[in-house]
Amino acid sequence: MDAAPLKRQRIPHAGTEHVETRLLHAGAPQGALAGTVAPPTYHFSTVIYPSVAAYEAAHHDRFGRLIYGRVGSPTLWALEDALCELEGAHDAVLVPSGLAAIHLALSSSLSAGDHVLVTDAVYPPVKQLCRNVLARWGIEVEFYDPLDMSALASRFKPHTRAVYAESPASHTLEIQDLPALCALAHARGARVIVDNTWATPLFQKPLALGADMVVHAGTKYLVGHSDAMMGVVLSRADMASQVRSFWSDTGSCMGPDDAALALRGLRTLDVRLQRHQANALRVSQWLEQRAEVARVFYPALASHPQHALWQRDFSGATGLLTFVPKPSSKTKVDAFADALQLFGIGASWGGFESLVLTALPQRSAAPLPWPAGQYAVRLHVGLEHIDDLLQDLDQAFEAWRCA
Ligand SMILES: Cc1ncc(COP(=O)(O)O)c(C=O)c1O
Repeated sequence: MDAAPLKRQRIPHAGTEHVETRLLHAGAPQGALAGTVAPPTYHFSTVIYPSVAAYEAAHHDRFGRLIYGRVGSPTLWALEDALCELEGAHDAVLVPSGLAAIHLALSSSLSAGDHVLVTDAVYPPVKQLCRNVLARWGIEVEFYDPLDMSALASRFKPHTRAVYAESPASHTLEIQDLPALCALAHARGARVIVDNTWATPLFQKPLALGADMVVHAGTKYLVGHSDAMMGVVLSRADMASQVRSFWSDTGSCMGPDDAALALRGLRTLDVRLQRHQANALRVSQWLEQRAEVARVFYPALASHPQHALWQRDFSGATGLLTFVPKPSSKTKVDAFADALQLFGIGASWGGFESLVLTALPQRSAAPLPWPAGQYAVRLHVGLEHIDDLLQDLDQAFEAWRCA
């Protein structure tokens, strides 16, 4: 009798360097699952074995066999293989949200008594995670200025085990010099974890730039339709088993329906990103010309403070940008956002739709890229026709003027 109902088969790479082709074929059903274009969505918890011996044998290979719903399924394996291929990683571990992926990457890397350096421009809930969870476990967290390498160099301690970067930052769009950061951290025995959600594996490859682990809020562009939650930790070979064991010990598994939606989203990532990029570039250039706008932060603009780094390390730009109007009070930016018709007011980004948020970003260790106290408008530029988006923004400036 067979040792287990299903054995994991690593899905071979698509055999081409063209990402358009790889996106369509990465994670395609193989072996016993071949025949359908999309892998079947496996709903299960328990798997029945023909004998105790078969059950025990399968558990010696718990990440390579179908043994229990929490530790893997063909739907999740397909998504993991596709993401490994795109990011150039050894392993991909899936979790139910982007924040859960950040938690997994940090927690599997750190122990009580360790010190971690986290970019001050980080997605704000990560600061809560650091202060409310990691600190409680005896992990010392320090926030660093993402743009000041010499200040960062002086912050390392003998027990610094990790540096956490988010590049570009999702609110203020600072780009970090990842090769320099990795060289600095590695020389001091610390690993580098990078949130690559903005760029996606299509436009930046942090592992190739020297990083050790990459996290994605798959909820954004990978899923791409604002209809599923997902996070992933991608790592180099020497860290992979540490991440997977921690994941298995803590039980944070992704559901099959969200994994199937993420696989479907991946197939169109390239075409979606091309339109996000074209629309966001037009919107950012248009905003730059407006008398009401003080600054626009979008890495593909020549005026972006780290535009040269973006040109060196990225192969494209996505749909998220921030601008600061002048003057920029809360009343005025809120009136602008309220007047928009096509940009929904909502958290998150990376879906097909346009979104807006207003915020007063705050820092503990670094200056903001614009004068303190000024409110910012963050736009996620979606896939709508560019003329409609510009018309909508234009009429919202009228509300901003009157506020
Ligand atoms: C840059 C970045 N990382 C991580 C996350 C967290 O993702 P999730 O909402 O899936 O937990 C977000 C969410 O907005 C984000 O913008």
